[in-house]
Amino acid sequence: MPCDLILALDVPTREAAAPILRQLQGSLRWVKIGLQMFTAHGPDYVREVADLGFNVFLDLKLHDIPNTVAKSVESLAPLPIGMLTLHTCGGREMLAAARVAQQQTRPDLLLLGVTVLTSMDAAALAETGVTAAPADQVARLADLAAAAGLCGLVCSPLEVALLRARLPADVQLVTPGIRPAGESGGDDQKRVMTPAEAAHAGSSYIVVGRPILKAKDPAAAARAILAELGWKG
Ligand code: C5P
Repeated sequence: MPCDLILALDVPTREAAAPILRQLQGSLRWVKIGLQMFTAHGPDYVREVADLGFNVFLDLKLHDIPNTVAKSVESLAPLPIGMLTLHTCGGREMLAAARVAQQQTRPDLLLLGVTVLTSMDAAALAETGVTAAPADQVARLADLAAAAGLCGLVCSPLEVALLRARLPADVQLVTPGIRPAGESGGDDQKRVMTPAEAAHAGSSYIVVGRPILKAKDPAAAARAILAELGWKG
């Protein structure tokens, strides 16, 4: 299967999202609901988007003590979601507790460990006390996630080749930090690639938000990316 597109639905209201989703029904498979929409509209909105026929990636980036994260995974398990994120920097015990909760409640749910945010470069990492280069820190966190049994990771496309070389082939790599060729500036994203480059590097899924949402015709922008990835129709 070609690398697939996940639309990051980072808009303020369900009314803003509705026309985009309507136009992309039947061509787009995955929608990412992040903190902005989940905080505004809650679990009902997850069900609403799933009812439209989309697979939902719930990007809550859980990061807390092991018990709280595991209980949150249990609370989220009844929702119609296919992917859920947690921060790998929460540590081995937190990751393992989340994995056990997921296996017991939703064995089909893909738990994705977020490594280093794609908005962070070496200088930003150093400000938090992490003096390792971003790629080294991503590799360290990826090993931690793999040891805890996670089957997927979120990383920058720049680290995909490195992770493909060190992790089992069936690990799903999901990469934000995508900017189509010709896009000016990367907003707050610092470690970026084009959709085709990310696919070629070995991303399983790319996550794209603003380049689609800020386009004059968001549905056309999404379809152009799907075509660039090799999806027909
Ligand atoms: O608008 P843009 O394409 O930059 O959106 C990227 C999306 O991916 C955002 O929803 C952001 O929360 C998410 N993300 C990220 N970096 C990570 C994990 C998730 O940018 N490491």
